[in-house]
Formats: sequence, C-alpha cells, structure tokens
Amino acid sequence: MTGVVIHLVAAARPNFMKIAPLYHELNKQDWAAPVIVHTGQHYDVNMSDAFFTDLRLPEPGIHLGVGSGTHAEQTGKVMMAYEKVVMTKRPDMVVVVGDVNSTVACTLAASKIFYDSGRRPIVAHLEAGLRSFDRTMPEEINRLATDALADVLWTPSPDADENLAREGISRNKIVRVGNIMIDSLEMMRDKIESQKVYKELGLERGDYGVVTLHRPSNVDDPEILKALCETLARIAEKINLVFPVHPRTRKNMEKAGLMSAMTDNKKLYFLEPVNYIRFMNLVFNCRLVITDSGGIQEETTYLGIPCLTMRPNTERPITVTHGTNLLCRLDEVWSRIGETLAKKEIKPCIIENWDGKTAGRVVRSIKKMVLKPA
Ligand code: UD1
Repeated sequence: MTGVVIHLVAAARPNFMKIAPLYHELNKQDWAAPVIVHTGQHYDVNMSDAFFTDLRLPEPGIHLGVGSGTHAEQTGKVMMAYEKVVMTKRPDMVVVVGDVNSTVACTLAASKIFYDSGRRPIVAHLEAGLRSFDRTMPEEINRLATDALADVLWTPSPDADENLAREGISRNKIVRVGNIMIDSLEMMRDKIESQKVYKELGLERGDYGVVTLHRPSNVDDPEILKALCETLARIAEKINLVFPVHPRTRKNMEKAGLMSAMTDNKKLYFLEPVNYIRFMNLVFNCRLVITDSGGIQEETTYLGIPCLTMRPNTERPITVTHGTNLLCRLDEVWSRIGETLAKKEIKPCIIENWDGKTAGRVVRSIKKMVLKPA
C-alpha cells in the first residue's frame, strides 16, 4: 500500500458514523491510504453491516472479530489482536473515535509500539475532551485514558478543549475540528429525507416520540428497568413511542420478564435496532426523543428537536447550554413530557463547527502533521 497509511478504528454502532465522513474525505486525497479496522465489538448485521451499507463504507480492510465480553476481556482481546496488526502492517497513523472499549484498547496497544529508529504510529483521538465527570460510566474511563495517551486530540467544542487543558494536556496537541456526527447527517441528508419510516408504522409526522435506551445504569438493574418501562407505558398514553431496542436492553427485558407488557402496548412500537438512514428519518420527523445515547443528544440539538436524556449528567454539556437537551431523572421525565409537548417551535441550534465540514478540518490537520516539509 502506498501513501500515508491511516487506520480508522471502528468498533460499535456510533463509531461507524464517526469514521465514515473521514474515510470518504481521506479517500479523495492522493497522499492518504485509509484502512478501516473493525474490532468486532458490535457484530449483529443490524448493529454493524447495515451501517456500512448506509454510509457507503467498504468492507473493513482489517477485522479483529473480537465480539462481546466483560470490560477487561473485551479491552484485552482488542489490545492483543490489534498489537499484532500494528506490528505487521506498521500504519503511520491510528485514528480512534468516541469512547467505547475498543477506542481505549487500540490507543493503549498502538501507543507502546516502536517500529525502528524510534518511529511509532501517531495516535489521534476524534471526539476528544468530552467529560461527564462520572467515573461510574465505563466510557468516562475510556475517554480519560485515551486522551492521556493520544498524540493528537481533535475536539468538537470549547468545553472539550478546556477539559483537556485542565488535565495538563498541552494546547499544542489540541485541535478543535467540530462535530463529525453532523458530517454523516449532512452527507446522508437527502437519503434520510427521502424516506417515510413512520408511515410504515401507521404514524404521522410529529405524532410520535423516539426512544433509545442502552446505558448499563438504566438497563442492567431489573428494578430500574422495570420503572423505566412503566414510565414509558405512561408516556405512551400521551404520545406514541417508537422504540428500536438495543440488544443489551432486549436481553435484560427478557430476563426481567418485561417483554410482553411492552410488546402488547399498542402505542409502543417496539422495533429491532434500525439502520442509520431509517433511524435518522424517524428522528427528523418525531415530536421528541427520550434517550441515554451520547450522539443522539447532539443530533437532536443540531436539528432543534426536544431531547430528554435519561441520565444525571452528560459529557456533551453544550447540548444543554446551547441546544435542546434536558437531563432528566426517572421521576422527572413525566412532568418534562408535558412541558415538551406544549412547545410548538422546532428550531435548529447553531453551534460553531457543527456544520458538516469536520472531516475536511481533520484531513487538513493530518496533512499538516504527516506532510511536513523535511
Ligand atoms: C457499547 C459502548 C457504549 C456505546 C454503545 C453503542 C462500551 C463500554 N460501551 O455499549 O459506549 O454507547 O456500544 O451501542 O464500549 N450485543 C449483541 N450484538 C451486538 C453487540 C452487542 O447482541 O452486535 C449484546 C451482547 O450481549 C453484549 C451487549 O450487547 O454483551 C453489550 O455490548 P457491548 O458492546 O459490550 O456494549 P454496549 O452496551 O453495546
């Protein structure tokens, strides 16, 4: 392979939207040789392949096939498999995205490898600097460790720059590039807008909410999950809810015996995980979103759609201060629904560098680093 070899590490559903715009932008450059590395953390067709198809990504150049496991198992397996890949393929740069276990695993593996004469791959983190300040979240540990090790930190917003600076990271390593998820959304906007997924469910534009829940803190404890399901059933009396169910959540609902009450409820549309274009079409046309996802807080802010985030904190505070995001405890969500439904206006929020041009800024940052005159 000729050119600057750049590994784009993708592992889990939200990663695919982050590498796609960058892969396409790098592919246009005559000096760059991007290679997609799929760790296999997500492996079901509707959690992985469907996203590659929607986002026009080729088959991964390298597949580690790691699969599920405990945190240490998954992280360790990715490290062992990726270390071998880096030693044999010798990429010039490793780009990790987001905050999943594979992000920190590949960072740890790549950061310790030296090829010859002290040369080692540059490790770059896209979506660096986000902090929830909640170390009970596995993602927060992944973010802290990744950012401490990465050579380049591409951030989405000023709060991220400040978090990194506070942790003692040199300002020289930090480059504010904007929000790469918005690039995917703009890249696929025509396709997203051309669909009417809600019609297939017998719904009308604006007469339903979209629900996604998968955080361990919400779905792993059967008592909390039961209370959440009861709250959703109560909300569904006011507005139809479309709920594409994450495999972690589905398995926990089955274990807790909560499935039949949910699937019997005619106002709750319980779906398998939905691919990117169809999911975003549901979001584009909904009245509100109830979620615990990170990316969806950003997408709803960008679109101006009310978002109730079922978490006590967020690593994306700009979506609260400048956007449509409202953090809700379980016992608050019911009253928030009333207020949210009373609001009529949907107004997209403007945040600097959330403009669909982040991949271009990342490519310019890479070019500066790797094509330096000798
Ligand atoms: C992971 C990320 C989380 C991210 C989420 C997006 C970590 C620590 N968590 O959480 O930050 O928001 O992805 O979805 O990296 N499973 C399947 N099929 C799959 C994938 C998973 O059935 O294709 C099931 C397995 O039972 C697995 C469980 O889901 O054990 C959890 O998957 P895992 O990747 O460990 O964590 P997520 O909850 O998906």
